Formats: sequence, structure tokens, C-alpha cells
Amino acid sequence: MTRGARAAVGIVLVSATLGCGQQPGIGEAVDSQREAQQKATWHVSATAELPAPVVAAALGTNARAAASQSQVLVASYEFGINTDRVLAFARAGDHILVVDTCYRPTRQFCDEVLMGMGIEVGYYDPNIGAGIQALLRAHTRLIYTESPGSQTFEVQDIPAIAMVARARDIWLLMDNTWATPCFFKPFQHGVDVSIHAGTKYIVGHADAMLGVMTANERAAGLLQKGHWALGSSAGSEEVFLGLRGLRTLEVRLLRHQASAIEMAIWLKARPEVEDVLHPALPTFPGHDLWRRDFTGSSGLFSIVLKQTRRERLAAMLDGLRLFGMGYSWGGFESLAVPFDPAHYRTATRPRHEGRWCIRLHIGLEAVADLKADLEAGFQRLTGGS
Ligand SMILES: Cc1ncc(COP(=O)(O)O)c(C=O)c1O
Repeated sequence: MTRGARAAVGIVLVSATLGCGQQPGIGEAVDSQREAQQKATWHVSATAELPAPVVAAALGTNARAAASQSQVLVASYEFGINTDRVLAFARAGDHILVVDTCYRPTRQFCDEVLMGMGIEVGYYDPNIGAGIQALLRAHTRLIYTESPGSQTFEVQDIPAIAMVARARDIWLLMDNTWATPCFFKPFQHGVDVSIHAGTKYIVGHADAMLGVMTANERAAGLLQKGHWALGSSAGSEEVFLGLRGLRTLEVRLLRHQASAIEMAIWLKARPEVEDVLHPALPTFPGHDLWRRDFTGSSGLFSIVLKQTRRERLAAMLDGLRLFGMGYSWGGFESLAVPFDPAHYRTATRPRHEGRWCIRLHIGLEAVADLKADLEAGFQRLTGGS
């Protein structure tokens, strides 16, 4: 890795072992901007000196901005992040808008926790763009996005949504786990708080659970207050693994991207496959928006199968050798999970309702081996016919 200029790191790593910020820090950031940095950061229980390009990648911004503008919180895992991210920005009596295609546990958190606390939640169509204006109410306080959408990969017009949000002083939060800051720069597109399941590509080896939140200057103060009040924190081992993962994030992603696109094109031509849901395919409905706003694609996409018999699908998946059956993508291994989003979407109907879909994560294995594994799986799916 090139050793670039050192940047002051707007990273707050909250360590469970040290508690919430009682300690001034283990291994504080050691560069010329440390003093300025400490003014801008808080709850420092572990900091690190990282090369500017790595920091820039982590923050989704350029290295200069990384030094002056943004901050990152690391909570223990998605639930901590869920809590911090929304509770810092909304309270009882507020209305929030959440994309219909969000990660399912985000929806569960909204329905089961936020609604119980008196926060009104509305779900919106990921293709809504500037039309989100019509859903705003006098007490709308926050819009929560995830692009591309979980499992079905709808690409949102984030700049259009950001313009509407900014005009009304509404917070815009975005789950950017799929693209990572390498392939989508949330702050350049008007997002106030960028959220990552660091568990996925940042850690990169499926061996730690970590969440990362980055805020622009406008939102940093509120995020800080909410985070202090809630006190979720990450363990030092997870923080270490996250920092280590950041150093190879870009090279891993380039490989995930290339392999996934090759697999997607191959799958699109398979007779067993009705459709491939991958934003980088020109035939995908959100492709133009993806090309406009993203600079790459990662290893996660879905296929829609023609075969509808459950036992055939089970035979296909149970016999896979390289693709594990697992949810937590972003590591070096390939994964497959079947899904049917019709069960839990409320504002939209999935385009391929009634069909079995499989979400694939393309890991770092040889593409030829992955094709052979799926090819054998397709034979089990069709009964060898
Ligand atoms: C888009 C997205 N966001 C967040 C998460 C939650 O990640 P974690 O495993 O850290 O709880 C996931 C997990 O699958 C995800 O797919």
C-alpha cells in the first residue's frame, strides 16, 4: 500500500473495554493536526494513525475533508447503529420516512421499537426520487435511505431526495454498506449521515461485527449527543479488525466487483434464470442512476429463478460446495440465500412476485469454480432436465 500523507483521523473508535470516553485515548492520532482534531472529536477511546487515502476511503470523502469535517463512530454492531442513528435524530411525535427496500432488521427496528416509542414511520418507494416531497408532513424529521435496496437492488436518486430534504431541513441518513465509500460518496450527494455495517466489506473476513457512522459537520453534533446518551460501543478486537480491513478494502472490492460482474453476465444467459438484479447490468432498471452516481459495484446481487418448486430449490442450495448458506456477506467467501421480499414490503410490490430469488455474494474464489458450483446446482434445480 502506498504510504500517503498522514491525515488527522476523524474517527472515534469507542471501545467497550474502556467505556465511554473516560480515557483520553490509547495511541492517539499523531500528526500535526492532532490538537485541532481533538477539538473536533470526542469519546476517543482508541484512535489510529492511518494513511490519508485509507481515511478518505473510510469517510467517503477526500483526505483534506477527512481531516476537518467528518467523524466516525463505531458501535458494536447493527443494532447499536440502528439505535444511535435514529434516536439521535428523531423523538416521540416525529415522523420519519424509510425506504421500503431497507435491510429487513432496519424495518423491524422501525416497526417494533420506534413505533412503540411514538415515532411515526412511513415507507416509501425506492424509485420515488423528488416525488418524496409529497410524502413529507409538517413533523417529518428524517429520511432513511439504503441504495441499492436490500435484496432487490433498486437504485435511488439520492441527490434528488437530498435536495428535497435540505430544503425542509430534514436529516438524510443512508446505509451505504453495499457500495462502501470506495464506490459511492454519500456526502458529495447530499447525505448527512452515512452508515456502514463494517461487519461486511470493511472487516472483510466475516469474523467481527462492527458498525460505522460518519456525519457531516451539520449532523455531527446531534450524532455525538445521541451516541453519548445511548452509550453503545465496540470492542477493541473488532475495532482492530475493522482498521486492518480498511487497508485492503479497495483491492478486495475491485476483485469482488470484477468477479460479480462476470458471474452476473454468465447467469443472465442461463436458461434457469429469469432475471439478474445487478445495478451494473445495462438491462437493470436502475442502471442509469447507478452509472451517474456510483463509481463501481460490489459483490452482492440477486437472481430470479424460473423454477418455483421449493424442494428443487432446496436441492440446489443444499448441494452447493463453495457457496455457503449465510446472511452476513462482504467477506472472502461466496454466499447464497433464498428470499421472497413480498412478505415484508408494504409500499411497493416486488417486480418478480411469486418467483424464488437467490441473493448471491461473490467472494474472492476463482470465478470458474463458482460457475461450476452453480452449474451443478442448476442441474439439481431442474432435476437434470
Ligand atoms: C445493507 C445492510 N445493512 C446493515 C446490515 C447489518 O449488518 P450487521 O451484520 O453488522 O448487523 C446488513 C446485514 O446483512 C446489511 O445487508
